[in-house]
This record gives sequence, structure tokens and C-alpha cells, in this order.
Amino acid sequence: GYKGDDEYDYLFKLVLIGDSGVGKSNLLSRFTRNEFNLESKSTIGVEFATKTLTVDAKLIKAQIWDTAGQERKLTVIRAFYFHHFRILFWYRAITSAYYRGAVGALLVYDVTRHASFDNVARWLKELRDHTDPNIVVMLIGNKSDLRHLVAVSTEDGKSFAERESLYFMETSALEATNVDGAFTEVLTQIY
Ligand code: GTP
Ligand code: MG
Repeated sequence: GYKGDDEYDYLFKLVLIGDSGVGKSNLLSRFTRNEFNLESKSTIGVEFATKTLTVDAKLIKAQIWDTAGQERKLTVIRAFYFHHFRILFWYRAITSAYYRGAVGALLVYDVTRHASFDNVARWLKELRDHTDPNIVVMLIGNKSDLRHLVAVSTEDGKSFAERESLYFMETSALEATNVDGAFTEVLTQIY
């Protein structure tokens, strides 16, 4: 039957993770609002956006959480080097709240920055430590539009994903390539 603005059959929480600057916030704004910002600032705190789509005649509402890669990394470094237990406590509390209840994750690296790909294993470990083993994870190599600057080959991305049993896609938030596809695939696999 008819469903209004705030009705849905399923509500799925997704999280975006990956190093700072890989394009998490722009993937989110491209998917939920069809917007892209070339000069976007690093995310402060935690933001989220929602989008409802139809899969198999069911209304699925995706609630997608986004945070800064860098801010959290710095917080951990501070916590360990200065034995600042209050910060360590906050980091843990925020991290577990971020991941709590997530049924899907998009783990993003930047195809032009190899360091962001090297860090994928660490992000995956943090994700595994905080979520259910059944979570659907998609590895995303973003900024595929910067063809002349590619530092991580499609093959390397794909074989890492295969080894770790992750889905894999290369995207461009700028050109809107595979962005809907990536989010929709994760939601479809969850459903
Ligand atoms: P944090 O919030 O710091 O963790 O970063 P983020 O992962 O959210 O990155 P953000 O979306 O802010 O993007 C960082 C920069 O990369 C911005 O200048 C974006 O315009 C740019 N960017 C994001 N996606 C793409 C893309 O697909 N192609 C290109 N060429 N640039 C992109
Ligand atoms: Mg951001």
C-alpha cells in the first residue's frame, strides 16, 4: 500500500570509514543529495544522512554515518602517547557508538594515494572488532576520475577484497560513477 515520507519496511545503518580525504563525505552527499563539493572541509564529529530506496518492492531506509578519518586517528595517538585516559575513554565510547548496530560498511581508499590503501587493513580490523561478523562490507577505491594519477591498480584493490571476502568497486564521487551502484549493492546484500 501507500507509504508516506517517514514509512519504510527496513531501516539499515551503514557506516563510512577510511582515511581522511578519501572522499567519504562526498560519496555520501552524492548518494543522498546528488551533490559534490571540490573544496569540502574535513568532517567534524559525526554526521549522518538518510535515503530511502526500493529493493524487491520493499522500502529500505538507509541511515548512513560519516566521520572524519583524521580526527579519530589523532585522538588515538594522543591517547596512547600522553596516557590521557579521559581521551582514550572518549575515543572508545565514540567508536563503539559509531559502529553500534551497523549492518553494512563502505571502507574507502583513494586510488591516487597508496597510503590510504595501506591503511585499509587497519580500518578493517577496527570494523571487525566493533561489529557483527555478518556485516556486509564493500571496499571502495574512490576518485577513479583521476586516471593519470592512479597509484593503486584495480587488480590490487580487487585481490585484497577477495582475500578478505569483501565486495569491491571503484567509484568517482565527482563524476557520479558507481556511487549509487555501490550503496545499492550493499543494501541489496544486507536485505
Ligand atoms: P574526512 O572528513 O577528513 O575524513 O575526509 P573525507 O573522506 O570525508 O573526504 P571528502 O569527501 O571531504 O573529500 C576530500 C577531497 O577529495 C575534497 O576536496 C573532495 O572534493 C575530493 N574528492 C572526493 N571525492 C572525489 C572524487 O571522486 N574525485 C575527485 N577528483 N576528488 C574527490
Ligand atoms: Mg568527511
